[in-house]
Amino acid sequence: MEKGLILWFTGLSGAGKSTISKVVAEKLKERGRKVEILDGDIVRENLSKGLTFSKEDRDINIRRIGFVAHLLSRNGVVTITAAISPYKAIRNEVREMDDNFVEVYINAPLEVCEKRDVKGLYAKARAGEIKMFTGIDDPYEPPDNPEITCYTDKETLEESVNHIISSLEKLGHLT
Ligand code: ADX
Repeated sequence: MEKGLILWFTGLSGAGKSTISKVVAEKLKERGRKVEILDGDIVRENLSKGLTFSKEDRDINIRRIGFVAHLLSRNGVVTITAAISPYKAIRNEVREMDDNFVEVYINAPLEVCEKRDVKGLYAKARAGEIKMFTGIDDPYEPPDNPEITCYTDKETLEESVNHIISSLEKLGHLT
């Protein structure tokens, strides 16, 4: 059985986590790998339904995602997680659980994410209609030493995807 892997995406809402995760997943499937995506928005409709965006609930959400990602990864699945996962300590907790953990920082400045405002949530957060919005009135702790960083304000989608795939090759995670 091929070794599984947790590809842990982290970054602000609107940075490009979901978009990049889908294309990376397709590329990995083309190479014959089993792939699963655990996307924040989808997890919160199912596995984490009812959780809020308090630090406590975000930590619970991330631990759940990490737990499932680990189960999949140990069975040979490349598992891409795409949740904001704003807190460094919990990300590192998940890292410690799995020998094949690769942190991918989807880095875009807040101003850029806010300008994109794909879901219209930044405007609502600025208007005070949504509280505890990451980057506005809630923290985001960037990773200190991510294995991979994508600068989505400077790269095309294709460039970010290629960078992730070639980095995984260099790290020895893809044959
Ligand atoms: S996490 O902090 O627990 O990792 P997660 O990725 O699951 O967050 O969910 C983030 C998504 O929920 C955002 O992309 C956005 O669509 C939505 N959302 C709603 N309220 C908030 C909020 N207060 N902060 C961040 N995202 C929010």
